[in-house]
Amino acid sequence: MSGRLTGKVALITGATGGIGQATAELFAREGAGLIVADLDHDTTDKLAARLKAEGAEVLAVRLDVRAPENWDEAIDLASRRFGRLDILVNLAGVVDWPGIEDTTKDDWDRVVAVNQTGTWLGMKTAMPLLRASGNASVINTSSVLGLIGSGAAAAYQATKGAVRLLTKTAAVEYATRGVRVNSVHPGVVATPMIQDLLDEQGDQQSDILRTPMRRAGGPDEIAPAMLFLASDESSFVTGTELVVDGGLTAH
Ligand SMILES: NC(=O)c1ccc[n+]([C@@H]2O[C@H](COP(=O)([O-])OP(=O)(O)OC[C@H]3O[C@@H](n4cnc5c(N)ncnc54)[C@H](O)[C@@H]3O)[C@@H](O)[C@H]2O)c1
Repeated sequence: MSGRLTGKVALITGATGGIGQATAELFAREGAGLIVADLDHDTTDKLAARLKAEGAEVLAVRLDVRAPENWDEAIDLASRRFGRLDILVNLAGVVDWPGIEDTTKDDWDRVVAVNQTGTWLGMKTAMPLLRASGNASVINTSSVLGLIGSGAAAAYQATKGAVRLLTKTAAVEYATRGVRVNSVHPGVVATPMIQDLLDEQGDQQSDILRTPMRRAGGPDEIAPAMLFLASDESSFVTGTELVVDGGLTAH
């Protein structure tokens, strides 16, 4: 198989989610070896089996991004089975919609643990193997809600803002050490994360109304941004924020 990621190995967290599956499928088509990681064994195994049937080299791993020992196991697996890791895509995420006063301490802690701590733990644990690649790429998933305020989703916005700056400081730290680090900022994307909202409100959902293109994006419209940052085509790109939002933050 030859493609834009031939010879590279990628680990994707949140791989069975909407954007995760689209990214895993595209990376597999472009020739990457893959470790698909998510919370649920069965769905992760099924995704891996589907990609294998299409000819990709894929391993499935159960990884809760909050758990350091899960990260150790996943990186150890990459090292033993592939002998390398070139790409880390931190996609695992959870949302919580309430604003400042209605956010509970438990929900705040849960969202921070997954979106923010999970992203840092992933980079921390994977970095030695990524550095050994000599030509590696980390892609962290922020959001348009890591760039602008919405007046809601207090915990989510705080974590996505943190991911944006964590990405930039990591980009500076590793700029001469063979690892590029960038963030992707999706707008409204039709995935299980926001499906209830879209089912209830359809095109009248407030963020869609604020999106100049007046529609939600599809996961397959985010995956190519991941691919660009993962591939050598972005060899001079580090510390950037790649916004894919139908124009939502343009006004
Ligand atoms: N859908 C959108 O509109 C949108 C917009 C901006 C940013 N994002 C971000 O994109 C990323 C992917 O989201 P999606 O839209 O595909 O949502 P999704 O709900 O379809 O996928 C999220 C995945 O993360 C996994 N996950 C949750 N907690 C985890 C944990 N502790 N450990 C490991 N995996 C865990 C879930 O099992 C799920 O598979 C998220 O970081 C999300 O915040 C989504």
